[in-house]
Amino acid sequence: MKILACNIKNKMDRLETESYVEQLGEIVSEKAKLIICPSFLFLPLFKGGNYSLGSQDISSFNEATVTGEITAKQLKSLDVSYVIIGHSERRNYKHEINIDFINKINHAQEKDLRIIYCIGETEEEKEHGETFDILEKQISEVLNNVVLKDIMIAYEPIWAIGSGKIPTIKEIQNTIEYIKDIVDEKYEQQIKVLYGGSVNVDNIEVINNIEAVDGFLVGGASLDVTNVKKMIEIIDNKGN
Ligand code: 13P
Repeated sequence: MKILACNIKNKMDRLETESYVEQLGEIVSEKAKLIICPSFLFLPLFKGGNYSLGSQDISSFNEATVTGEITAKQLKSLDVSYVIIGHSERRNYKHEINIDFINKINHAQEKDLRIIYCIGETEEEKEHGETFDILEKQISEVLNNVVLKDIMIAYEPIWAIGSGKIPTIKEIQNTIEYIKDIVDEKYEQQIKVLYGGSVNVDNIEVINNIEAVDGFLVGGASLDVTNVKKMIEIIDNKGN
C-alpha cells in the first residue's frame, strides 16, 4: 500500500470543501491509502468517507488552558487518525522548534494518533551539500526524545514545495534511503517515508516507481479531486 496524503493547507472555504467531499465520494483503491488533511474547521464535513482523516497540526499543549489551540483529544473526537507535525511552513512562519514537535508527538501518541513528521532542507542547504546533515539533525533532535511509535517521515525539500521543482529521481531515492538507514541505525526500526514537494499527476508515476518511496504528501495538486483520483489510478495501475 502506498500512502497518498493530501495536505489541503489553508485553502478552500466551506462551500468549496463541501463540493470536494462530494466529489471524493467512495474512492476505492487497491494500492493507495488515502489520507485527507483539511483545515481544522472543516474536519467534521469529511466524516464517513472511504479515506482516513488527518489534521495539519496539533497543539503542543496538552492539559493547559490555551486560547486558540486544538488538542489531540479534540481531534480524536472528530475521527482524526493522522497528524502532520513539523511542516516546514510551521517551522518557518510560526517559528516552531524541536521542543514543540516533541510535545506534539507525545500528545498525539497519547491519543493514538499516527504522526507524519516532516523534514527537509532549504535550497541554500542543498546547494552547500548539507542536505544529509540537516536531515540527520531534524531526525535525531526530535526522534531521540520520543518513543518511535506510529511515526512516519515525510521528506519535503523546502525548495520543492509549491515551486513546481522536484529533486532528480536519483536524489529522491538516495535521500529516502538515507533517512531509512539513519532511523534503522539509530533506533533499529523500519520507518515509512513519504515524498512531498510539487507532486502532481505528471510526476507521481516516476516517483512511485522508486522502491523506497512509501507514499506522498501532496499539497497544491490535491486541491482538485480529479487530480486525487488520477493519482490513485496511477498508483493502482503500477505493476508489481
Ligand atoms: P505542494 O505539493 O503544493 O508542493 O506542497 C507540498 C506540501 O507542502 C505538502 O505538505
